[in-house]
Amino acid sequence: MMRTHTCGELRITDTGKKVTLAGWIQRSRDLGGMTFIDLRDRYGITQLAFNMETQSDLCRQARELGREYVVQAIGKVVERSSKNRKNPTGEIEIIVQELKVLNPAETPPFTIEDETDGGDDLRMKYRYLDIRRNPVRQNLELRHKMAIETRNYLNNVDFIEVETPVLIKSTPEGARDFLVPSRMNAGQFYALPQSPQTFKQLLMISGLDRYFQIVKCFRDEDLRADRQPEFTQIDCEMSFVTRDDVLETFEGLARHLFKQVKNIDNVTFDRMSYHDAMKYYGTDKPDTRFGMRMGELNEYARDKGFKVFDDAELVVGINAAGCAGYTRKQLDALTDWVRRPQIGAKGLVYVKCNEDGSFKSSVDKFFDQDQLKSWADALDAQPGDLLLVLAGDDAATRKAMGELRLEMANRLELRDPNTFSCLWVVDFPLLEWDDETRRYYAMHHPFTAPLEEDMDKLNSDPGNVRANAYDMVINGVEIGGGSIRIFDRDMQAKMFEVLGFTPEEAQSQFGFLMDAFRYGAPPHGGVAFGFDRWCSLFGGSESIRDYIAFPKNNAGRDVMIDSPSEVDEKQLEELSLKLKK
Ligand code: AMO
Repeated sequence: MMRTHTCGELRITDTGKKVTLAGWIQRSRDLGGMTFIDLRDRYGITQLAFNMETQSDLCRQARELGREYVVQAIGKVVERSSKNRKNPTGEIEIIVQELKVLNPAETPPFTIEDETDGGDDLRMKYRYLDIRRNPVRQNLELRHKMAIETRNYLNNVDFIEVETPVLIKSTPEGARDFLVPSRMNAGQFYALPQSPQTFKQLLMISGLDRYFQIVKCFRDEDLRADRQPEFTQIDCEMSFVTRDDVLETFEGLARHLFKQVKNIDNVTFDRMSYHDAMKYYGTDKPDTRFGMRMGELNEYARDKGFKVFDDAELVVGINAAGCAGYTRKQLDALTDWVRRPQIGAKGLVYVKCNEDGSFKSSVDKFFDQDQLKSWADALDAQPGDLLLVLAGDDAATRKAMGELRLEMANRLELRDPNTFSCLWVVDFPLLEWDDETRRYYAMHHPFTAPLEEDMDKLNSDPGNVRANAYDMVINGVEIGGGSIRIFDRDMQAKMFEVLGFTPEEAQSQFGFLMDAFRYGAPPHGGVAFGFDRWCSLFGGSESIRDYIAFPKNNAGRDVMIDSPSEVDEKQLEELSLKLKK
């Protein structure tokens, strides 16, 4: 046996036992008469002790060992004279009798400590060393727990896990595909799946009734903190269900995960229409841990002679409670913040609601006290509060105000990562118009069913048809999304027509699904969760990279294995991909 115990296991009750441990050297301390080594493995750290007087050879050997050497130690568990209460094994140490170097190690390029001196790039290049660090390993442990508990819950309610193919067919809808050239079919390509959407629908037609899969998906899109080119979904589909059946089933999954992983009970889910989300929060993924809802001020602020407002499609404000004391400098900083290109507002109007009931604003020239009071009333403001107002085009201004709302909440520390506020955003628009290509695109995907009551508008007013689609949003993060699907062949054909497909294009790209609809497709619907996002939300981090063992950097590169990389001419030739000089 290479070891009898792990490095996190031994306690005072084990005193007197002869044990064998194996692990990495975290650090060693040479105190003259005694040498101590902290031996580390996944489970913890145990102190090895060497006495210069009684074991001089062994002690000398121990002093030679560097950080991250892999060693095996045989010795006796004894009670420590100076105990370390912070470490679970800190009451004992091992008086080493035999020490064997299993493998020496070069000095690692950064310290293997919770707070390391290694920057992001270096840690990614040596990710296998990074994973030795507690915070990174703990993130992977959390991810493992999430996956196990997801499987437990779904298995208990009759979902079966089915693997779907990774080499599939490219379709122009959605994000950009990653392509894989086919050697055996010269000039033809597979695509990696952006999601198993059509396969899970086919599995419903197969009668599997309840499917899930924890599955890799691939999208060739620009990267952000919450996006990776390959990421993992908890992908699910159910037959014979209405929207509410789906939402309740997955509220159950969320409650199970909250309880098992975070030990949080009584999680509730609000439901909010897309319309209200945009109106009150300026985004389809509102952070509802705090209020500060947006209020429209058009009727109080326009046509009063202030040109900026008179020309604006929308004047909208938020109430930053308790912020009337903001200084000139703070207000200037906020103004600069909204003017940044990412936010894109032209300027910021403020109104201070003074303690004496009067108002002081940046537009006092144009608005009298009564008028400012009407804004304060519209935004439910009290003396001591600060109103922040933006104006401009409807969509852009709403979005900018949504961002400012989050920024103010950050400044006021209203976004505690240990508080969770969950909701479903429902009734999304079915279609989005694109000015450039002058056509509609499915906002979710082309298989989403329109709401029954909007069906008659599909011809006359497609832009205003709502979808039977829903997103799960927690703390302003889109954790998952799904919909009730079209299961009727004619309806699906109609949908492709609205999206500008000719019948031939629809047949060549999605004929397999349309044909399957001929053979008894049950009503069905489902959802997919961003597994990496859910892990990072529970772990309290903004970046999903921290929860992926071997992630890509912002340029889509794996700097450890140095990929993507060039390939042999010969390989290209075989794939009929020889680049023309
Ligand atoms: P959707 O495209 O909304 O739906 O994806 C589902 C969830 O996956 C996560 N996600 C991502 N996570 C990390 N990196 C990415 N690049 C990335 N893209 C998406 C999000 C998102 O909510 N087939 C449909 C689902 C369905 O209708 O059932 C789909 O894929 O958390």
